[in-house]
Amino acid sequence: MEKLESNDVIAEVRRKLDIVQVISEYLPLVQKGKNFFGVCPFHDDTNPSMSVSREKQIYRCFSCGASGNVFTFVQEYEHITFKEALSQLANKAGVVLKNVTYQKKNDRYEKFYEIYSVSHKYYLNNLQTNLGREAKKYLHNRKIDDAMIKEFGIGLSLDTSNDLVQLLEKKGYNLAELNEIGLANKNYDLYNSRIMFPLKDLSGRIVGFSGRRYDGVKENKYVNTKGTPIFQKGNVLYNYYEAREYVRRKNQVILMEGFMAAIRSITVGIKNVVSLMGTAMTKEQVNLLKRLSLNIVLCFDGDGPGRQATLTNGDELERQGFQVRVVELSDGLDPDDYILKYGSESFSSLIENAIRYQDFKIKALKENVNLNSEEEVSNYINRVLIETSKIDDEIRRELILKSLAKEFNIGYNTLEKRLSTYLEKELPKKKENKDFVIKIPQKKHNKYELAEWHLLYYMLMVASVRNQFEQGKFNFSTEQERFLASEIIYYYRLYGTVTPADFYTYLQDKKELLELLDHVLALEVEEVEEKTIDEYIRVVRENSVNLEINRLTKMIEEKNDPLEKARIAERIRKLKMGSE
Ligand code: CTP
Ligand code: MN
Repeated sequence: MEKLESNDVIAEVRRKLDIVQVISEYLPLVQKGKNFFGVCPFHDDTNPSMSVSREKQIYRCFSCGASGNVFTFVQEYEHITFKEALSQLANKAGVVLKNVTYQKKNDRYEKFYEIYSVSHKYYLNNLQTNLGREAKKYLHNRKIDDAMIKEFGIGLSLDTSNDLVQLLEKKGYNLAELNEIGLANKNYDLYNSRIMFPLKDLSGRIVGFSGRRYDGVKENKYVNTKGTPIFQKGNVLYNYYEAREYVRRKNQVILMEGFMAAIRSITVGIKNVVSLMGTAMTKEQVNLLKRLSLNIVLCFDGDGPGRQATLTNGDELERQGFQVRVVELSDGLDPDDYILKYGSESFSSLIENAIRYQDFKIKALKENVNLNSEEEVSNYINRVLIETSKIDDEIRRELILKSLAKEFNIGYNTLEKRLSTYLEKELPKKKENKDFVIKIPQKKHNKYELAEWHLLYYMLMVASVRNQFEQGKFNFSTEQERFLASEIIYYYRLYGTVTPADFYTYLQDKKELLELLDHVLALEVEEVEEKTIDEYIRVVRENSVNLEINRLTKMIEEKNDPLEKARIAERIRKLKMGSE
């Protein structure tokens, strides 16, 4: 049996942390009234559907239903166990855990992480040996110094055919596993003579490698870990884990194509950066970006594919509600080349002055337009007007119209008229994206159910309501509710106080109760007044009586003995009079 931390320690950790603070380290939150709202990371969310309550120290997504306290959030977000989340958060809260929890070994993936960790150490070491001299020279030539090698965990795979496989087999891992997680091909090492860049998952664990050749040959420049149970190239962003904090501070994320670009940028102090691995951007990556920030700067390579990627990805990100800006690099340079050539200050200023995506797009549209073809010109003007209609600023719109009118000698009014039709089409979309509309759906529940939930809520908060329940002044109509009520009483006896957020942790293995607790905690309960409580109790009792009468009525129908029928009828009569 694994030892568990006592509930006191768990509660202490929770109390020392503010859920609003913790969650906002993962995603942007905006305050609205008492609560905070953010884009829910647990489903494909576009509008902020997750509300976080400082008062109750819980979160709840009213779209997908995800809910819980600070522990469940970290658990679900990072895909880790309760104990791992606890130890992370204890660290943050400065609470020392007595039964220091080691990661569970029974997780199927735990072994894979282990293998990656061992392999990484092996690669790191290779680079520091004599056999790594050429590779080191290559890195130094590229202005990747020893500090960077250390910071980014850069290593080296050797020219041998199966050193790593042998090492791992000696440690007890089998060949099938090594093939499955992309380190071996049959009984050979998959990587030979490559500089190894570790790739991490969302929680910062190494789950793959990108190996670069350094012999100057362009073919197969990079070999990346293929899809494995713990790694999919399209499900991660390079530097995601490390960037979170910096993105939050700047409320902006910079997206690049390659990880060399990101490494360079981070080294010169621009750390709110993540990169794709190539120009393709998947839906999962868009969702990851959403978790970081809706303010994005695209900084792709200054070549044809980079420009094309800016357009394709820019369109998609804009559709998904991002505010997109663009940095254009010249002469085919990528951020790495640019920084080495022009310095970090020049690069910072490019980022600061990134242009709006629409402006970039309008400029891009003009390229390749044959100005002698009326059809092409008119097509072009239309597309510019469509882009212009997405611009929120009237003055900027007018400037664009004026310059179009002048350049193509078209009446300003003609352009304006056409623009206004596009503007009308854009209007509903803008409303949706811009207002950060928080629509809390008001589900209808019947009055008995609501009364019972309110009483459960009060049982969490008010001793007198607990007492009345214990004295049998009211009861609940479903088994779940009765179960929850008895858990509240039990918890209260044990700890002397019931805090909703701690109660969550206590109930974590009882999924059915958690669902009910969610409903209960979602109630917007204002001040507690005795009058209101009495009224809920009255409603609940009325319901109990009705249910009992129904039950007895059915019973009469089933009985044959007239005496028994009469006895039951008498009980019904009494119930109706309210004397039982
Ligand atoms: N990439 C890849 N396989 C390739 C080429 C590129 O997986 N054959 C991915 C890599 O993740 C790389 C990104 O695409 O980081 C961008 O490619 P590129 O611009 O060619 O690489 P750089 O980052 O510039 O790397 P280097 O400077 O070492 O050439
Ligand atoms: Mn490069």
